[in-house]
Amino acid sequence: MKIIAICGSPRKGNTEFILKRILTKMEEQGHQTRLILLREKRIQFCDGCLSCDETEKCKLRDDMQIIYPQLEESDLIIFGSPVYFNNVTGMMKNFIDRLLPFYYKNKLRDKKIVAAIVGASDKIETIKKSTDCIKTAADLLKMSFVGDIYLVARKNDEVENNSESLKQIDKFAENLVS
Ligand SMILES: Cc1cc2nc3c(=O)[nH]c(=O)nc-3n(C[C@H](O)[C@H](O)[C@H](O)COP(=O)(O)O)c2cc1C
Repeated sequence: MKIIAICGSPRKGNTEFILKRILTKMEEQGHQTRLILLREKRIQFCDGCLSCDETEKCKLRDDMQIIYPQLEESDLIIFGSPVYFNNVTGMMKNFIDRLLPFYYKNKLRDKKIVAAIVGASDKIETIKKSTDCIKTAADLLKMSFVGDIYLVARKNDEVENNSESLKQIDKFAENLVS
């Protein structure tokens, strides 16, 4: 299976750690993996031209042109984001907006998608609201939402220093493709 993880955190922190740990587990099971750190990519805002409606392509020349075929080739996409104001980060939302060329002809149809979210709060509305953003994108893109993991952390190294969080990630990774 080809697995891509998209990291929507602007810092080297918990989201990146969680995604790397999941991908390492997947590699141990023989899967092919790739991690995309959005903060290292040059990705412009969607300018709303809607020309992808007809062309099925985005006219903006930036790193999305490399990422589009990688997404099309994948079997499972992991969307990882910190919670910012009870939602995904702007960086992740912008990435989702740039998936519009895939929307019209359902080019990501039936691909598996999961959400990996980390926030400082363990309130149910925080968890639900941030995860719902990914679920909504999955629905609109006709993808198959197969699971989500939410971890509580505030400082950038909090997840990696919490043994319960590590167990939670490992269990999630084991169940992901079994
Ligand atoms: C601008 C900003 C807004 C945030 N908003 C929330 C929030 O609404 N709810 C919450 O639980 N945590 C919030 N946080 C905390 C982050 O989700 C938390 O620090 C998380 O561990 C960051 O993940 P990272 O280490 O992968 O960057 C916010 C942090 C920032 C910088």
